[in-house]
Amino acid sequence: SIGNSTNIMWHDCSIGKLERQKLLQQKGCVIWITGLSGSGKSTVACALSRGLHYRGKLSYVLDGDNVRHGLNSDLSFQAEDRAENIRRIGEVAKLFADAGVICIASLISPYRKDRDACRALLPDRHFIEVGASLSYEDFSTLSSYIFQVFLDIPLQVCEARDPKGLYKLAREGKIRGFTGIDDPYEPPLKCEIVLQQQKGGVFASPSDMAEKVISYLEEKGYLH
Ligand code: PPS
Repeated sequence: SIGNSTNIMWHDCSIGKLERQKLLQQKGCVIWITGLSGSGKSTVACALSRGLHYRGKLSYVLDGDNVRHGLNSDLSFQAEDRAENIRRIGEVAKLFADAGVICIASLISPYRKDRDACRALLPDRHFIEVGASLSYEDFSTLSSYIFQVFLDIPLQVCEARDPKGLYKLAREGKIRGFTGIDDPYEPPLKCEIVLQQQKGGVFASPSDMAEKVISYLEEKGYLH
């Protein structure tokens, strides 16, 4: 059985990830952007998607706020529902990556264990490809299939920006369990990329941040 399902078999198709990657001339992967509300996740995700598009690379943004309008509209901000939000987006991101797309997930994903669970979902994917007729050269690089990006913007900065007025409402007690105010944000202990607004007195724009991610992907051979 798989999860809670019984009598379900995995079905492989003769057109696999390798063929799709060849067709698209790129490798699918997941860029997972985590950070506080108001840290600029969506802005950086869009700048990244645009930067990739101009380089002829296909990407797709899964934005927490947007996915909560549809697929995840049944979920609240209680810890179990946040975990489920992250799990579902992780599963969808995995499908996009398998399709050969560079999938950019941008959601607060405040709890370390949920992000770790997502990371675990992605590297060990042999069950997807077992029985496929091709040898998958990128098996050896599977551990770098998901890249976590920490958008490290201090709470004070996010709260001062308060683009949706939600921090104000949280401070007034009108929203309960708001990340950073009365619900925790656990920063990554280990992630592939850390983006900060300021380094050595120089401000980084969203497109500078996106370029940093793109350089990382280039270095890892994801944009060949
Ligand atoms: S999570 O924690 O990953 O499930 O959150 P996510 O799906 O990214 O959704 C975050 C957006 O929902 C709005 N919002 C809240 N955020 C945090 N805590 C509480 N209680 C909350 N209630 C509503 C908020 O606008 C977040 O948007 P961003 O884009 O992050 O500012």
